[in-house]
Amino acid sequence: MNDSPMIIAIDGPAGSGKSTVARAVSERVGIPYLDTGAMYRSVAFAALRAGVDPEDAEQVSNLARELVLVMRPDGTVLVDGADATIEIRGPEVTRAVSIVAANPTVRSEMRSRQRQWAREQGGGVMEGRDIGTVVFPDARLKVYLDASPEIRAARRSKEVADLSYESVASDLARRDALDQNRAHDPLTVSEDACVIDTSHLSVEEIVDSILELLE
Ligand code: DC
Repeated sequence: MNDSPMIIAIDGPAGSGKSTVARAVSERVGIPYLDTGAMYRSVAFAALRAGVDPEDAEQVSNLARELVLVMRPDGTVLVDGADATIEIRGPEVTRAVSIVAANPTVRSEMRSRQRQWAREQGGGVMEGRDIGTVVFPDARLKVYLDASPEIRAARRSKEVADLSYESVASDLARRDALDQNRAHDPLTVSEDACVIDTSHLSVEEIVDSILELLE
């Protein structure tokens, strides 16, 4: 019998549908959800707010170690006591976050916080880029969601009404390249992950297939 906490790892690139799917899986299974990308965004947000250059690895590392970060089950994010849920999704943070997420000290700090969160919650649906490969290599289920770059860009540009499709697509390509080619914990498909191409699937269909895999 396996009595370790149930971890469902959902990895994949931006726009693959991870957040929507992970939230829905968490509701259906009845275990909490953690958006680990929001943690990296929070570090980038705190750096920008403090006037720290995101490229300054040492200062950003110090800031990440000291950051008081609360990831609430309802999705709100508190950074040093203040609600930053909206700001961490803004364009400045989105531009800076890949650099911050490439910083190995930031990654190791966030990794231990993610493991601690899962211990405290007794398991969870963990969404990110390196959950199945690095953070929880023994996860009960590993899912890698993917979709064509065009479809991912179209999904993202619907979310940000004030940017053109072209600028969203080029920013997505830039972030894909940074996430996939960084030296530490790059976005890769775990050997034992189930890959789902979400390009032409509804959220319901994806969630149903994940629940089937879980059974
Ligand atoms: O999923 P997102 O766009 O909110 O992620 C923000 C950034 O954080 C993105 O550059 C990828 C990075 N990230 C990461 O490196 N590892 C994770 N587990 C989650 C996100």
